[in-house]
Amino acid sequence: MGNWKMHGRISENATLLTEVAAGASALQNGVRVGVCVPCPYLAQSQALLSGSVVRWGIQDVSAHPAGAYTGEVAAEMAADFGVTYAIVGHSERRAYHRESPELVAAKAQRAIEAGLTPIVCVGETLEERESGATEQVIGTQLEAVLLVLTEKQAASIVVAYEPVWAIGTGKTARPGQAQDVHAFLRRKLQEKGAAVANVPLLYGGSVKPENAQELFAQRDIDGGLIGGASLKSKDFLAICQAAQTELH
Ligand code: PGA
Repeated sequence: MGNWKMHGRISENATLLTEVAAGASALQNGVRVGVCVPCPYLAQSQALLSGSVVRWGIQDVSAHPAGAYTGEVAAEMAADFGVTYAIVGHSERRAYHRESPELVAAKAQRAIEAGLTPIVCVGETLEERESGATEQVIGTQLEAVLLVLTEKQAASIVVAYEPVWAIGTGKTARPGQAQDVHAFLRRKLQEKGAAVANVPLLYGGSVKPENAQELFAQRDIDGGLIGGASLKSKDFLAICQAAQTELH
């Protein structure tokens, strides 16, 4: 899953989207590919990706269904543009917009109600990791979401583990380090119900063509949430290829 963040211009997007759609059409082994684009480019993504194997998504949704919330975008509005995925709780939103675990949970609910698949991001800061609080922090983030969802709804989400210290820094979690956290997340999901344990778990944080294969080879890593490398079709497609080889 690509996460373009606040990047893109209408002229450049056309090339990127077209190349990704063309490259992804050759993928096998049930690899699913998507790109989460800035809101103004949802219509362009819909126009260029409809009929391709690539799905498109939004990077955030409002916790409210509609109303006097200037600047917010409702999940239902994204659904109008054929959106499949909605990232919720990205660490940049939690940090810069002070989004609490409860707010993120409400956003996941709104996404599900609108027929979108929420990609719930969880992750610890370096300080939290070094103080031994990783499991407590991401456990709290995940639990808040699971609390408000039914078992059936919870089985329909995607969870992304993104250690804050690895995002955009060039520092990737070691595959074993990431696997340990994914195994923990899997256990937490299992507590909600057997079907919930099977939700896709993505790893994110400086995933590149050079390290994707080793990460995807880990037992509980089912895919990636790719920031910087999703802006170059060659790199993004190389990561998708790694998924095709390593995921099972
Ligand atoms: P990055 O970003 O791949 O540029 O580290 C990942 C993300 O924040 O989703």
